[in-house]
Amino acid sequence: MEKDIGLKHIAIIMDGNRRWAKEHNLDKSLGHKKGAEVLETIAKYCNKIGLEALTVYAFSTENWKRTKEEVGAILILLNMYLDRFLKTADLENIKLRVIGDRENNMPEEIKNKMIKMEEKTKNNTGLKFNIAFNYGGRDEIIKMTKKIAEKVKSGKIKIEDINEQMVSDNMYTQGLSDPDLLIRTSGELRTSNFLPWQITYSEFLFLDKYWPDFTTKDIDDAIEEFNKRQRRVGK
Ligand code: FPP
Repeated sequence: MEKDIGLKHIAIIMDGNRRWAKEHNLDKSLGHKKGAEVLETIAKYCNKIGLEALTVYAFSTENWKRTKEEVGAILILLNMYLDRFLKTADLENIKLRVIGDRENNMPEEIKNKMIKMEEKTKNNTGLKFNIAFNYGGRDEIIKMTKKIAEKVKSGKIKIEDINEQMVSDNMYTQGLSDPDLLIRTSGELRTSNFLPWQITYSEFLFLDKYWPDFTTKDIDDAIEEFNKRQRRVGK
């Protein structure tokens, strides 16, 4: 029987790559590279311990405003790491999904890769590993609203049929339970348009370290902290 680790879904805002790079006198792109390496380690670990879902914030709809060089470096990393994640997912039974806007700004090659890797891993039963890329929470809500409005307009549903379940079912995260725990690294105390609908009941954990310094022990500690809080709520 699988071990019960007390929670199903962890969401992470991976923040602080550039500050980490600066602190180490490195180019920004190397901060992101280290961040991607850490992400791979963390995803494998979450799968190993039997977590059901991991959703990470890799790139927001606002991040396109960064310099061309930096955005270019992140896209190259994404392209490379999607291949790596697909290999790992095949070997370790991980189900991959990329959530976010695919229509605006997304290079065709990467878009095709996303479709292919979701198709190839859709029947895997291990960790559901979701990478939010070109993701914005309000944008997701607007898209959901339009989808539901279309259904009302075409007569498929009635306004009275709209409920929380229907809203959840029309989000990118459709089929996933809401995050039990949201972790943000780098000491910033904001949620920055990440999963606003889904984190309403999540526990928040803000860590004072940059994402490239995040380790598997931080996952263990975070789970322990989550379970402590749940026990307190029960009393
Ligand atoms: C936040 O740190 C990080 C990002 C906006 C990019 C996240 C990218 C990765 C973790 C690596 C890429 C992974 C994939 C799979 C593409 P920041 O740049 O905002 O750093 P700062 O807060 O110190 O400025």
